[in-house]
Amino acid sequence: MSSEEASASCTIDTATGKEAPAEISSQRVYEIFSAIAKKYERFNAISSFGAYKSWLKGMIELAPITEKSSILDIAGGTGDVSFTIACSAHPAHIQITDLVPEMLEVAKTHYDEGAGCGVPIDFDVVDAQNIPYPDNSYDIVTMAYGIRNMPDRGRALSEIIRVLKPGGTLVCLEFSTPPNPIWRALYNFYLKHMIPFWGGIITGDKEGFVYLSRSIKAFPDQKSYAAMLEDAGFHNVSWKNFTGGIAAVHTAVK
Ligand SMILES: C[S@@+](CC[C@H](N)C(=O)[O-])C[C@H]1O[C@@H](n2cnc3c(N)ncnc32)[C@H](O)[C@@H]1O
Repeated sequence: MSSEEASASCTIDTATGKEAPAEISSQRVYEIFSAIAKKYERFNAISSFGAYKSWLKGMIELAPITEKSSILDIAGGTGDVSFTIACSAHPAHIQITDLVPEMLEVAKTHYDEGAGCGVPIDFDVVDAQNIPYPDNSYDIVTMAYGIRNMPDRGRALSEIIRVLKPGGTLVCLEFSTPPNPIWRALYNFYLKHMIPFWGGIITGDKEGFVYLSRSIKAFPDQKSYAAMLEDAGFHNVSWKNFTGGIAAVHTAVK
C-alpha cells in the first residue's frame, strides 16, 4: 500500500467505532492482550459463552483447506485456530502471526508440547495492518476475533488480499449481530451487564471484558462487514451465523 493510500484510510477507536487516531486502539489492545496472555484461553471460553470450540469447528469447515495449503493465521494469539487446523486438516504449512509477542509465546509453548500435530508452523510478530510478506503468498488466510481489534480495518483487509494468492480465501470468525430482535436484546443485556461482571470475577481482569463488550457492540453487522470485504476487493463474500448470529464466519475470495 502506498503512503498516500495509507494516510487516506480512516482509523477508528475500536471500542466506539468513532474516528480516532489508531494509536489509541493499538496501545489499548496491546496492553490488554500482553497482560492476559497466560489466562487468555480462560478469557476466550468466557467471552464466547463457552461456544468457541463449536464456532471454531464451523469456521474450519468453511475453509477450503487441503494438504497442499499454505495458511496465514492473522491475530493468531495463543494458536487455537492454527493448532485445530493443523490437527484436523494437516496443511503443508501454517504461519501464525500476532501483534502481541506474549500471546505468541503461549502458542510456541503449546507447539513445543506437540499441539501442531507434526505440521510445520512458524511464528512472527506482525501487525495485520502492515503485513511483511510478499504478494500472492498464501492459499488461505484465517482470522478469528482479530479484525474487531484493528483501528484501520480497510488497511488490514487490503493487506490480507494482497498476500493471498489469486483464488485464495479469507475465512474470518468474529462476534456479530443477532438478526432476531428478541435474541439481540437479550444478548445485548448479557454483553453489557453480565460479561464484565462475571469475566472480571473469574479472571480478575474486568477492563478486558468491558472493552470486549464495547468493541462487539461497535463492530459492524454481518451485511456491513461483508460490504467492507467487497470494498477491499474480495468477491464471493458470504457468511454463516452461529448461535443465532452472536458470531459469524465470513468467507471471501481473492
Ligand atoms: C481475541 S484474540 C484472538 C486470538 C485467536 N485468533 C483465537 O481465536 O484465540 C485477538 C488477538 O488479536 C491480536 N491483534 C489485535 N490487533 C492486532 C493487529 N493489528 N495485528 C495482529 N494481531 C492483532 C491480539 O494481540 C490478540 O492476540
